[in-house]
Amino acid sequence: RIVFVNGSYVPFEEANISIMDRGFLFADGIYEVSAVVNGKLVDNEAHMARLDRCLKEIDIVNPYSYEQWIEIEKELVKRNELKEGCVYMQVTRGAAERDFSYDKSIKPTVVAFTQVKNIVNNPAAETGGKAISVEDIRWARRDIKSVGLLAQVFAKQAAKEAGAVEALMVQDGYVTEGGSSTAFIIAGDKIITRPLSRAILPGITRLTVMRLANEKNLTIEERLFTLEEAFAADEAFITSATTFVMPIVSIDGKQVGSGKPGPLTKRLRALYLEMAG
Ligand code: PDD
Repeated sequence: RIVFVNGSYVPFEEANISIMDRGFLFADGIYEVSAVVNGKLVDNEAHMARLDRCLKEIDIVNPYSYEQWIEIEKELVKRNELKEGCVYMQVTRGAAERDFSYDKSIKPTVVAFTQVKNIVNNPAAETGGKAISVEDIRWARRDIKSVGLLAQVFAKQAAKEAGAVEALMVQDGYVTEGGSSTAFIIAGDKIITRPLSRAILPGITRLTVMRLANEKNLTIEERLFTLEEAFAADEAFITSATTFVMPIVSIDGKQVGSGKPGPLTKRLRALYLEMAG
C-alpha cells in the first residue's frame, strides 16, 4: 500500500509525521474524501473546491494547486490499483512546539491515502439501512470539514452498536445531518433536505443528487425537518461520497414507509450510479 506524505509516495509502513503535528494535538486541520468507481474519481472537482474553501476558512494556504491535487489522487489510485473506494486527503497546519496560537510560517502537513470500499454493490443499499437518532453536540462551524470529529465518533459508534448504518443528528428537534452524511426524507412527491448553513457540511453528493432530481423534474424542498417528520416520512435516505444514495428504512426502531428502499430513493440511487459511471 502506497500513501502520500508531504510530497512523497511511500509504503504505508514508512509513512510518519511529527508528534507535534497540530492535527494530532489540536485537530487543527481539514480533510476531504472523494469516491472512486471503476478507477475514476467521482465529482472530484467539487470536492477539491470544498477542500480549498475549508483551508481558507481555517487560514491555511492550500499547499497544492487544483492540478497538483488531481495528480496526487490519480497517482494514488494508480499505484494502489484502486478500482472502487475512496481517496482520503488531509491537510493540517503542520508541526510546531505546542501552543494554541500559531505562526503563519508553519508548513502544512499533507497526508493522502486510498481505501477499498464497496460503494456500488453495497448490500446495505439493496436492503436499506437502519438509523438511530442522537443529539447533535457538535460545534457551530459544521460547514468546515474539520478533522475534529469526536462528536461523530460518538454518534457513529452508537449507531454501530445498535446495528445501524448511520446516526441522524438532531438539534432542537430538527435533523441536522448524518454522522458522516447528508439526510433526506421524502413526503409524497417532495424530496426534503436541510438548506445549507453553518449547521451542516455542504455535501457534494447532496448537490449532485439535487441537480439530478431537478433534471428529472422531481421536487426538492430545502427546509428544516424534524425527527418526527422523518419517522412519518414515506422514504428516507442519506448521501455521502462513500455511500452515494443509501436508503434508510427505520429510525430508532420505527419503520420508515414500507420498511424497504422506496421507489424515489431507488431512482435517485440509479441516477447517481449512472452519473458516477
Ligand atoms: N463524510 N455531512 C457530514 C458531517 C459528513 O462528514 C459528510 C461526508 C457529508 C457528505 O458529504 P459528501 O457528499 O461531500 O461526501 C455530510 C465523509 C464521507 C467522511 O467523513 O468520511
